[in-house]
Amino acid sequence: MRFKGKTAVITGGSSGIGRNSVELFLREGATVVMGDIDEAEGTAMMSAMGDGFLFKRCDVTKEADIKALMDHAAEQTGGIDILFNNAGAGGPRDAIDEISGDDWDFAMALLLKSVAMGIRHAAPHLKKRGGGAIVNTASICAFQAGYGPIAYSTAKAGVLHLTKVAAAELARYNIRVNAICPGFIQTNIFAASVGANKEESQQINTVLGQAAAHAQPVARPGIPGDIAEAAAYLASDAAGFVTGTHLLVDGGMLVGTPGSWNPEIPGILDAILPEHLR
Ligand SMILES: NC(=O)c1ccc[n+]([C@@H]2O[C@H](COP(=O)([O-])OP(=O)(O)OC[C@H]3O[C@@H](n4cnc5c(N)ncnc54)[C@H](O)[C@@H]3O)[C@@H](O)[C@H]2O)c1
Repeated sequence: MRFKGKTAVITGGSSGIGRNSVELFLREGATVVMGDIDEAEGTAMMSAMGDGFLFKRCDVTKEADIKALMDHAAEQTGGIDILFNNAGAGGPRDAIDEISGDDWDFAMALLLKSVAMGIRHAAPHLKKRGGGAIVNTASICAFQAGYGPIAYSTAKAGVLHLTKVAAAELARYNIRVNAICPGFIQTNIFAASVGANKEESQQINTVLGQAAAHAQPVARPGIPGDIAEAAAYLASDAAGFVTGTHLLVDGGMLVGTPGSWNPEIPGILDAILPEHLR
């Protein structure tokens, strides 16, 4: 019951990482106020999740919706202690030589400005409580090319720097700000970003799971619970001395090239050295 007596606002909680986090935070005793654009699923969750769960429709590309979510959470539950800025989607997939300015703006609104405005409008409520914790979902895309579209990756890199500077600015109010960088996690995000149907989504996630063994040292697919657990840690008092940083939760995807961890693939030195010098 790490979060007994605390209110957590979680965005993008109708599906995937956010939904799993809603369930975990509820199990840990939090009152959870969830904001999502998916009104049907959010409303259904009101009966499924039971006491301690509230849903408010919120499109995180709209600042007014974000402010209304934070104010609603504080009014209904007495205040806010934790914010998990998690909502997101793949966004436009065009390369830099093709993307339109409008698509770029949309990606930044969805993935970067949403996080800034989440912090902006939660902060007054956290201050009133004497402090709290904010967790932002970034991505491994923030570090390297090849894991997501350019607009998505750039926005996620922005989330990391936003996290650092916000942590610096809010430390005086006893508010910690950290980010999580998931690797490939089996959720609906991949299928949704290409307009695939439910069946195709399951296929994509199955292939993702199979590919995991070759893509990263921890040879299993990432699951939403892996990220929910990391979010809970960063939001909890156990992370009281942790702020302005990020936690990679990627099965080791970014440790190095496959040759550094897969004995079946030659490392770079092995590949270039003559056999008698290896
Ligand atoms: N799944 C992965 O491999 C992965 C990797 C790195 C980062 N992430 C990030 O994790 C977060 C959660 O994604 P997920 O994988 O659980 O995907 P998901 O599609 O399962 O869930 C995303 C949620 O965000 C909501 N959402 C989308 N647009 C919104 C908007 N404008 N306003 C409010 N809510 C909106 C959706 O309705 C959904 O409930 C995202 O920020 C995503 O970028 C995911």
